[in-house]
Amino acid sequence: MNGLYIGNTQQWSDSIPTHLEDFLFSPNALGARFQRLRCEAQSNLYADQEKLRIYLGTYFPRSFCESRNLHTLLLGLDPVRQLWSQKRTIHILDFGSGTGGNVCGLVQALADSGIKAKVHVYSIDGNKEALMYQRILLEHMQEHIGITVDLTVINEVFPNDPEGFSQKFRQVVATLPHQLDLIMAWKSLSELFIADQTSFVGSYTPFFEISAPLLAQDGLMTVLDVTIKARQKWLPVVLSKDLRQFLNNQTDVALIIPFGCAQRQDHCPARGCYPKFEFSVSHQDCGYDPIKFSFFALGRKDLAKSILKRAPVDAPCQDELGKPAAVVSRLRPLSLYGKIVER
Ligand SMILES: C[S@@+](CC[C@H](N)C(=O)[O-])C[C@H]1O[C@@H](n2cnc3c(N)ncnc32)[C@H](O)[C@@H]1O
Repeated sequence: MNGLYIGNTQQWSDSIPTHLEDFLFSPNALGARFQRLRCEAQSNLYADQEKLRIYLGTYFPRSFCESRNLHTLLLGLDPVRQLWSQKRTIHILDFGSGTGGNVCGLVQALADSGIKAKVHVYSIDGNKEALMYQRILLEHMQEHIGITVDLTVINEVFPNDPEGFSQKFRQVVATLPHQLDLIMAWKSLSELFIADQTSFVGSYTPFFEISAPLLAQDGLMTVLDVTIKARQKWLPVVLSKDLRQFLNNQTDVALIIPFGCAQRQDHCPARGCYPKFEFSVSHQDCGYDPIKFSFFALGRKDLAKSILKRAPVDAPCQDELGKPAAVVSRLRPLSLYGKIVER
């Protein structure tokens, strides 16, 4: 194996680059401030300047680290590494991109992986101010890491219910290029589910169904979300169920990560479980910020197959419940397996 799973060659990086940290937290620059908000205060669609500064000091560094680590890991997998190193341009769709934590983390991961392609980002979000910060932050990243990023902002508020979401998302997607290298939705579709008071399911299924046809042959989809309870449901269970429904109904796209779920997807007996990853982040306003998230990576079947044939046989699944391989503290090797939690 290439050592990315539980090897010694790659570690979870819990910090953000000093230039970015200074830019975020300096009162003369963005004036970000660390403050954990209660779950119910975590809707960001109508966040004002003050709340966005808290987002930038608290949640942006988390998304940045998560995206940098997880995309570095994906980009290091054979054959993704070979295929992506030949790309001259990379087209990215990010739904609910906000201030750009996961986009900036991705750009950093591309630079870390030695990929020099020009990046086009199609960035969808309902919060105009957040998108303004994203543009400023991407300009800052470009100056410091030498990757050219072309940003197209799509400032639209989407209906929160899956049907309304589908209609609008279809219209927006029709305006995008037809070969996307990466499709992301990080911590955004959960906000729609929380705000929607009408539906039992989330908008993850339509998100996958509508965007997947745009995926290039060697393209990737990454979806990351919070592991909290809202509307009496565990949000990662909502995500896992929606994902399973999407995968059950089509033949062209398959799961890549978590490896254990990907290996068993056709005959998975588990219902209501989800992968939960635990790491930490540190920066000048908080030396130790523990984080938890649920994460899935998908790709076209051929790509997924060629990655999975290199994966360890019998990667852990729900049988591994509670085993310590999953919980990784600072400076421990990165575990891709996550912890499978049943509800
Ligand atoms: C938690 S933030 C995530 C931002 C970014 N992806 C990250 O990981 O840092 C969720 C984003 O989803 C956006 N969002 C939530 N509901 C939305 C809706 N109905 N239409 C458009 N954007 C929405 C918010 O404006 C916010 O920027």
